[in-house]
Amino acid sequence: MQRIRALSSFTNVIDDPSHFKGLWNEDIFHNDHSITLELGCGKGEYALALAQRFPKQNFIGIDLKGARLFIAAQNALELQIENVVFIRMHAEKIAEVFSKNEVTEIWIPFPDPYPKKARKRLTSTKYIQLYRQILSENAAIHLKTDDEKLFEFTLSTLQQENCAIQEVIHDLYDQAKRDELLEIQTTFEKRHLRDGKNIRYIRFSV
Ligand SMILES: C[S@@+](CC[C@H](N)C(=O)[O-])C[C@H]1O[C@@H](n2cnc3c(N)ncnc32)[C@H](O)[C@@H]1O
Repeated sequence: MQRIRALSSFTNVIDDPSHFKGLWNEDIFHNDHSITLELGCGKGEYALALAQRFPKQNFIGIDLKGARLFIAAQNALELQIENVVFIRMHAEKIAEVFSKNEVTEIWIPFPDPYPKKARKRLTSTKYIQLYRQILSENAAIHLKTDDEKLFEFTLSTLQQENCAIQEVIHDLYDQAKRDELLEIQTTFEKRHLRDGKNIRYIRFSV
């Protein structure tokens, strides 16, 4: 509870995100660099690693859980990473917070598979439609998951929605050569690897 309260004192946690719709570059980042989202970011490991690798791009981590975001925001401040901010909100609000073409890429590492509630999955039709409202043309969306059912569900939703599927990997660490960005490991990925699970990946555009 204390951590959640402390979140609003962090300069890199945005309290009233809908206020910045269409204004993220101007009012928050003070530059015209591209904006990448990490949805269900947990401790923000993808956003932080990408922000360090690409200082001329902007990153925004979004999660519902304050305690995880506290760690993400604190790490960013300690490491003095200035091109990343965090928002505590439900991902279904993204179209209230970003305008058309404001976002150029989305990473979704290890989202909750929600076995009983397909529409809550971050790759359901409902979310594909939301992504269409904020993304620039041909923007890439990256999904990493250990969950075979979510992986298959995503592939069939993408086909149904006529999305362009650019890359499908069934077992990331079985590949001789991988994009180095796919080797960034989050807390949940490390846990799944320890449990001997395959890591799957899909890159697509909506
Ligand atoms: C399985 S964890 C993965 C966390 C992190 N991406 C990782 O790989 O370590 C899923 C995260 O998604 C968040 N989450 C689930 N549904 C969400 C939603 N609709 N909006 C925002 N965050 C969500 C949860 O709070 C949780 O932190």
